[in-house]
Amino acid sequence: MYPMLTHAHSGIRWVVLGLLIYAIYNSFSKMNGKKAFGAGDRKINLFAMAATHLQIILGFVLYTQSPKVMAGGDMSNSMVRFFTIEHMAYMLMAAVLITIGYAWSKRTTDEKKAKIAFWFYLIAFIIIMIGIPWPFREELGGGWF
Ligand code: HEM
Repeated sequence: MYPMLTHAHSGIRWVVLGLLIYAIYNSFSKMNGKKAFGAGDRKINLFAMAATHLQIILGFVLYTQSPKVMAGGDMSNSMVRFFTIEHMAYMLMAAVLITIGYAWSKRTTDEKKAKIAFWFYLIAFIIIMIGIPWPFREELGGGWF
């Protein structure tokens, strides 16, 4: 169960990143071209949000299984601190921003829809990039897939 979950969580990161990049690019082009932000655009943002939420749920399941998570463990160990606190905090912050951005852009006036989605999704994307245990951060033991 644990290896399967880790692989799923690791692989779905690419789906989340891909959908977020697409949603950000799409909102940016609508914002810049001053074009209407319609139901199709909202759907792109919805898919990106759903993928992020799925990843968060998987993350919480993994949190109960991973040997890298130690509540009350040695916080001077950067891997334990990262997976017990930092990774979860970054990702939850990003998911909250995406959820607010999606809901707000849905409710606001037509001129503001693309702009709100763009900024909230962009900031969330940057936070996710910072919060991922990339393999070049060797002390964290993460992989590419
Ligand atoms: C958008 C949200 C998230 C993304 C993109 C993401 C991405 C990742 C990636 C790429 C890894 C490394 C997997 C590997 O070793 O190859 C990882 C590991 C992990 N993630 Fe997340 N994560 C997210 C949210 C969360 C959340 C909210 C939690 C906890 C509540 C969580 C818990 C974990 C744990 C415990 C590991 C370590 C797994 C292990 O190797 O034992 N993740 N995450």
